[in-house]
Amino acid sequence: MSFDKSVGALGIVVGGSLSRGVDVRLDPEASPEDVKIGTYVIIEGASNRIFARVTDVTLESTDPRLRTSPMGTSDTQMARAMLGTVAFTTITVDPTLVIGGDVDVLLEGPKTAKTLPGYFSRVYAASSDDVEAVFGKEDERHVWIGSPLDMEETRVHLDVAELVKRSNGVFGKSGTGKSFLTRILLAGILQRHVAVNLVFDMHSEYGWGHRNENNREVKGLKQLFQSRVAVFALDEESASRRGVSADFNVRIGYDEIEPQDIETLASFLNLTEHATQATWKLARHFKHQWLKSFLALRSSEALAEIAAVLGEHEQTIGSLHRRLERLERLDFLVEQPSKDSVRSILEKLDQGIHVVLEFGRYGRDLAAYILVANLLSRRIHSRYVQRTEEALGNKDKEPPRPLVITIEEAHRFLNPQVAGNTIFGTIAREMRKYNVTLLVVDQRPSGIDDEVLSQLGTKLVCQLDNERDVDAALIGGRKLKGVLERLDSKQEALIFGHAVPMPVSIRTRDYGTPESYAALGLDEQTDYRRQEEMERDAKDLFG
Ligand SMILES: Nc1ncnc2c1ncn2[C@@H]1O[C@H](COP(=O)(O)OP(=O)(O)OP(=O)(O)O)[C@@H](O)[C@H]1O
Ligand SMILES: [Mg+2]
Repeated sequence: MSFDKSVGALGIVVGGSLSRGVDVRLDPEASPEDVKIGTYVIIEGASNRIFARVTDVTLESTDPRLRTSPMGTSDTQMARAMLGTVAFTTITVDPTLVIGGDVDVLLEGPKTAKTLPGYFSRVYAASSDDVEAVFGKEDERHVWIGSPLDMEETRVHLDVAELVKRSNGVFGKSGTGKSFLTRILLAGILQRHVAVNLVFDMHSEYGWGHRNENNREVKGLKQLFQSRVAVFALDEESASRRGVSADFNVRIGYDEIEPQDIETLASFLNLTEHATQATWKLARHFKHQWLKSFLALRSSEALAEIAAVLGEHEQTIGSLHRRLERLERLDFLVEQPSKDSVRSILEKLDQGIHVVLEFGRYGRDLAAYILVANLLSRRIHSRYVQRTEEALGNKDKEPPRPLVITIEEAHRFLNPQVAGNTIFGTIAREMRKYNVTLLVVDQRPSGIDDEVLSQLGTKLVCQLDNERDVDAALIGGRKLKGVLERLDSKQEALIFGHAVPMPVSIRTRDYGTPESYAALGLDEQTDYRRQEEMERDAKDLFG
């Protein structure tokens, strides 16, 4: 808001209600163009200082004839005479928090506003200090995430310690800044030591840097935080093409794939319901190596024979075989991995080292992404459950570190068809019972199961244009539709939910410039390392 507080009050309270909002008649000195929807004001009540958000701006007049009067466009003197008398502007503000005045507030911090300020209370543009009083200062739990819209100099801080207690969502259509915002969140979680991250990095953009659309390099977590981050790669050729080296090459054994993984992939593999169900029978029949054993059946006679044993149609088994053969093209699937990837990931997480799993070329293969993310998360989660329960029953045992799992294209894992039986649905629903939460990143929130959406603690929503996506992203925040609709198409987000005391729309802080790395407390010069340093790092990490 550009109206200068030193000039005086923005306006005075002239009506309203707690449910609908407070009407503020704008001072004739202030132009309606000075007041934007979503920005913050302070109402100085008789005994309370109330923090409020502008929800509407209306041009009004005391004289209905104004609309029909034949006044010309050149009649500026007349126009000036009428402004503030016959013609005026009203803004509607939503009083949200009491931030001063009340003794309890001074002791305990902002409280929900439950009373209305009286008639003629003065209203001012909120200052940086007011915003800080609400969203907190940068400290051991708060990270700077951006600035309120139209308050470029003011910082909004997000309570990441609170954030990681629940699963959260970053939504927005393509190109709005979800990945940039996610990097800022991941860096914040890392710097504040509130959890360890496991990132399923579909587009290989969070570990090592990548080039943005202007061919500028954007650094990843590995470059910025070095040995505090381990990069696991599924496709080491892609890593070496980009001139980076992974700390660990992931191999997955065929025996690690379970029928429920195939169930999640059913639509990608074009499997009928019947064929999907047959995988359970195959697993019961062949046990551990069911997939490899089944794929090893190469003749139609062998397939007919197994179909008869399982009591299935030959055709069902034949087509299931053809479709599962597709998995053989995934080079990271091997008969006997030399190292257990899950164990290696868990070792890193236990040491407080953040893990980014880069998919390389497999990031373009949704089936591979879903298969790997599901399978690894299931096993990691099951270890977490076991260890959390052990810690509950035994005072000498420590529960595992809180873990945040980041997944892109989340609706593929959390759509209503699969959310009931995939590990991600389970994690989203059980909140933080076992110290694991999700950070779901998605451009199509309407594809996510409603129950999962309503479990998300905090949502960071960038511009969306599909009506259904808007409705889905705003579950738990329907009143914010107008605010969301006004976001710019890049680098702006609406944040609401339990990690912020009230909804806020921000311009996300810059990421990707030397200044932005410096602002993260990192020195541009030290993070480009030579090969030997990287090797030393790998040694530190893996012994
Ligand atoms: N915080 C930011 N700092 C600097 N640039 C940003 C920021 N947010 C967005 N941008 C700009 O917007 C572009 C798109 O952002 P980003 O890649 O995060 O979009 P996205 O929502 O993840 O898109 P997609 O759905 O296609 O993955 C970036 O390349 C960058 O130029
Ligand atoms: Mg992205």
